[in-house]
Amino acid sequence: MNMHSADATTAEEALAIQETIDSEMATEIAMQDTLLTPRFYTTDFDELDAIDVSHIRDEWDPLIDRMVSDPNKGHFKKNADWDQVDWDAMDPKLKKEFIDFLISSCTAEFSGCVLYKEMKRRGSNEEITKLFQLMARDEARHAGFINDALREAGVAVNLGFLTQKKKYTYFRPKFIYYATYLSEKIGYARYITIFRHLEKHPQYRFHPIFKWFEEWCNDEFAHGEAFALLMKSDPKLTRGVNVWWIKFFLTAVYATMYVRDHQRPAFHEALGVDTDWYAHEVFTKTSKLSEQIFPITLDIDNPRWETGLKRLQKANVDLANAKKQGRKFAQMGASIRAGLAFVGLFSIPSKKHVVPAKTRLEPAY
Ligand SMILES: [Fe+2]
Ligand SMILES: [Fe+2]
Repeated sequence: MNMHSADATTAEEALAIQETIDSEMATEIAMQDTLLTPRFYTTDFDELDAIDVSHIRDEWDPLIDRMVSDPNKGHFKKNADWDQVDWDAMDPKLKKEFIDFLISSCTAEFSGCVLYKEMKRRGSNEEITKLFQLMARDEARHAGFINDALREAGVAVNLGFLTQKKKYTYFRPKFIYYATYLSEKIGYARYITIFRHLEKHPQYRFHPIFKWFEEWCNDEFAHGEAFALLMKSDPKLTRGVNVWWIKFFLTAVYATMYVRDHQRPAFHEALGVDTDWYAHEVFTKTSKLSEQIFPITLDIDNPRWETGLKRLQKANVDLANAKKQGRKFAQMGASIRAGLAFVGLFSIPSKKHVVPAKTRLEPAY
């Protein structure tokens, strides 16, 4: 019997199962590196390896034990709940945006898998390598499951090819913590918001993959918890000048999500989700969660926040159009406007608060 990536216990096993089929178009999209597309990262693995978790053991051990117990083993595969998808009958605009969503999600999952797997391979600190192995396992399953869905539409991403050929961006470990922590928590907030919305309005569930989002986002939640604890292990990471870096990453991650989601109007319409409402909902949840470790949150209710995001979004649309038409001067103008909009967002005063002594949270949305 053929094994499925959902039953794999390591990332290597899951990836070997997935490496069989792919399609050029999907891999090409996944290869793109722009400000808005998921990237692959590399870092200073020795610095990561030197982390000492002994003084946060009371919170660390239960998290690792839970991940070792592997509550989602076998979850990420099609079963009787997987309704037949009629790709040919799908509105072409929706189909294009949805496939784009799946490819971009698959690339993001796989990007996490590659980074975590590399950490496991290069490290010698047993606590740290164990954590990264467990997270790589989860991300490999997630990426594999999305690829299963894509395959039904006649596309699939070549994960082995991506590992070898996609450009790797170097980030210092602390930037990896901020960026990855946020992407795990925002990933949780995104999936749970869609899941709860479709629970209430199942008529909008146009594809079965959304039924898997609850357990899925619990994995991402746990990964976010791990990064919160890694940051807790070194209090300098959330103090002094680093608070500015935290603000920068919060702004960049939120703004990227906003711009990217607004590029998929048909997808959100099919889900019955207002994109502005969705963005605000996800930012609210992510901000609330990130109070566990970050001493500031963005003031997302400040009127400048919404107008700044709209300006950034408009500049990005203009930039894409100018690029398509090869209008260099217009491209430059749009880039400057996007930069200014980002600076405007970044300059909104943030909200300060006291970080709780106990960090760990449970998924509650
Ligand atoms: Fe994931
Ligand atoms: Fe994750």
